[in-house]
Amino acid sequence: MQLKWYSVLVLMVVGLVSAQAQISPRKVELFNSNWKFYLGNDSTARNETYNDSQWRQLTLPHDWSIEGAFSEKNPTGQGGGGLPTGIGWYRKSFMVPASAQGKNVFIDFDGVYCNSEVWINGHSLGKRPNGYISFQYDLSPYLHYGAANNVIAVKVDNSAQPNSRWYSGSGIYRNVWLSTVAKSYIPQWGNFVTAKVNTANAIVSMQTQIVVRQQGLHLKASVYTQSGQLINSITTAIEDADTAANINQNIIVGQPQLWSVDRPYLYKVVLQVLAGKQVIDRYQTTLGIRSFNFDVNKGFSLNGVSMKIKGVCMHHDLGALGAAINVRAMERQLEILKDMGCNAIRTSHNPPAPEFLDLCDKMGFIVMDEAFDMWRKKKNKQDYYQYFPEWHKRDLEDIVKRDRNHPSVMMWSVGNEIREQFDSTGITITRELVNIVKNLDNTRPVTSALSESDPKKNFIYQSGALDILGFNYHPETYADFPKNYPGQKFLASETVSGYATRGYYDTPTDSTRHWPTGSKAKLTQGNPEFAVTAYDNVAAYWGATHEEYWKIIKKHDFLSGEFVWSGFDFIGEPVPYPWPARSSYYGIIDLAGFPKDVYYMYQSEWTSKPVLHLLPHWNWESGKTVDVWAYYNNADEVELYLNGRSLGLRKKQGDDLHVVWKVPYEAGTLKAVSRLNGKIVLMQEVKTAGAPARIELVADRKLIKSDGKDLSFITVRVLDAAGNVVPNADNLVNFTIKGKGTLAGVDNGSQSSMESFKEPQRKAFHGLCLAIIQAAQSPGLVTVTAKAEGLLPATAIIRVR
Ligand code: GAL
Repeated sequence: MQLKWYSVLVLMVVGLVSAQAQISPRKVELFNSNWKFYLGNDSTARNETYNDSQWRQLTLPHDWSIEGAFSEKNPTGQGGGGLPTGIGWYRKSFMVPASAQGKNVFIDFDGVYCNSEVWINGHSLGKRPNGYISFQYDLSPYLHYGAANNVIAVKVDNSAQPNSRWYSGSGIYRNVWLSTVAKSYIPQWGNFVTAKVNTANAIVSMQTQIVVRQQGLHLKASVYTQSGQLINSITTAIEDADTAANINQNIIVGQPQLWSVDRPYLYKVVLQVLAGKQVIDRYQTTLGIRSFNFDVNKGFSLNGVSMKIKGVCMHHDLGALGAAINVRAMERQLEILKDMGCNAIRTSHNPPAPEFLDLCDKMGFIVMDEAFDMWRKKKNKQDYYQYFPEWHKRDLEDIVKRDRNHPSVMMWSVGNEIREQFDSTGITITRELVNIVKNLDNTRPVTSALSESDPKKNFIYQSGALDILGFNYHPETYADFPKNYPGQKFLASETVSGYATRGYYDTPTDSTRHWPTGSKAKLTQGNPEFAVTAYDNVAAYWGATHEEYWKIIKKHDFLSGEFVWSGFDFIGEPVPYPWPARSSYYGIIDLAGFPKDVYYMYQSEWTSKPVLHLLPHWNWESGKTVDVWAYYNNADEVELYLNGRSLGLRKKQGDDLHVVWKVPYEAGTLKAVSRLNGKIVLMQEVKTAGAPARIELVADRKLIKSDGKDLSFITVRVLDAAGNVVPNADNLVNFTIKGKGTLAGVDNGSQSSMESFKEPQRKAFHGLCLAIIQAAQSPGLVTVTAKAEGLLPATAIIRVR
């Protein structure tokens, strides 16, 4: 094979990236502070001279819906979580130095929900209906430079409802950036980097776009190791370019460190536009070198090693923080999932914040990046279907261009349970969408999450355009998949839809229930607490239990893996209950981030670390027979003791994923011991708790950054005098926060609580609640005090540095 890239100038300088080379001629600033906000509509607010002095001042990202009160009457309906939406305006005044004149000044919005229109100094820059899309405007032609003020005005219109099947949030809920770049520059998402791995080498290919405003420019591309060591550079002349150039460059990385879910190694690519010796633009992107494959018979493999995709579906809300992005809050979600053994995320049903993908790159998650929940046919009266004809091409292109340099992204999904799968329009639209993706990225497979499992009735499948067939639910059809879809690759794009409320248990557990029993049935089996038992035995009628699904996924090699619905509870879609249920029951983890019991089933199966988890709590009426479950691994038996008496050994048989004892309740201590070849692996105790006596505060991090964004998540535990969590404690806890931090939100994981996420108080729910503390922008201490009537208070001290 002739290596074309050897013929161009390759600089083989190996050494540390010098501080000098790091100086960027491109200025990129976070543009989040000092915005003014008005909840309501005033079309004159677009004008430069509008008086916004009475408006509220805030820092982005901002979601005004999460600040509001729950009401059944709010137009999102129960599906959207019953929080208010409406129209809101944002304005920001700023100055641009005279030195920026003659350059390009861009504003980047990572996401505005939804229907935004942006004005600079009274000039409209454009509209963007899709609330999950990142977009940029060029401010340069309309700016005042030097001492004069500029005003950006943004109208956000989330008033047409319902437009979503889940909680969307409202406002400028992701970051905003201001960048100043030279006249000749690499545009937004203007570089596509891929790597092909051979036996000993990786060929890193870079396609870079350049806006050219002067002659004689060069493009220099460099690849660095994760720790900043230069591996290689290449410099290419930008020739024959009037206004735009596309440059292809290759660099060989010998003995590459591969990106994997266990060791997510990231290289750095730096692109420099050179005018002589002067660097006039510098653009940086990450690179992960990995290969992956979906095989018709053997399923998924990463870097040649077969593995199951053990994934979860995630909506974008961050519980009490709403849709307003916060990197630490997203990182915490991913940490909790990683600890469970999860290795993949489906960003259902829309592209996530860019920082979410950065975290997936860094932490080692495989991502299915999903574009749409509907095409031309609506799911809700006011949803994106109305914008799809005009906007889908632009939106889909922007998603792919924005996200294609993330090594974590391994699949594009062009839609979830799209209604066009049921008629022939599915064929044409699928082909068009897949084409749009492939034109920009032919290194990743395209899928769609399908719900029609009959090949003759599924027109998206019949388009022949999908690389992988994603199927939602219908586990009974999996075994026949190779027969019904010969030669096709399979992924369970959505599974389970089991329900659970953390800490709530109905026993006995002999049967699996579907709530309601079918599409025409009404829910009659629910309970007045709007709770669902946390034994894994209740699911939607279209779904099945966590265990049922995982057993099937495990069984067949051709099944690449699954994405469980859902990783965390999310706001909205509180099936199966009516109001006041307002957030989902589907999560493996509740809205506050507290794992439900089934978390440990996954941990016992998806990790190799020793697990032994007993459920339920041990506070029952005397004489009641209680089903006691244990999830365990790395052991061949578990023995259960009640107050020191053995209740017998249990061993998982066949494909069992847990063991059960039927125990006549008696107050005291339940103890489980797991053993392997007679040797103790783990022990776990659950004790009968007495009356609530005191509060305990447990911070996930006691040291946080003084950046105004970092968070400490403080778990509030209501304990009895002996230190046991009281399983049904619902004491109202009041918080006082002093010093270098503020309260960003409170929660307790209840799916039907009407309490505010923002007030400094929360009732405990099954013994727990949560306070989220946000760091100030200067160092010091934050003192968090939690008090409840009749309980000893507690204080936590967080250091902000
Ligand atoms: C699926 C859908 C998800 C969610 C889920 C609830 O059909 O794709 O968005 O609605 O059902 O079970």
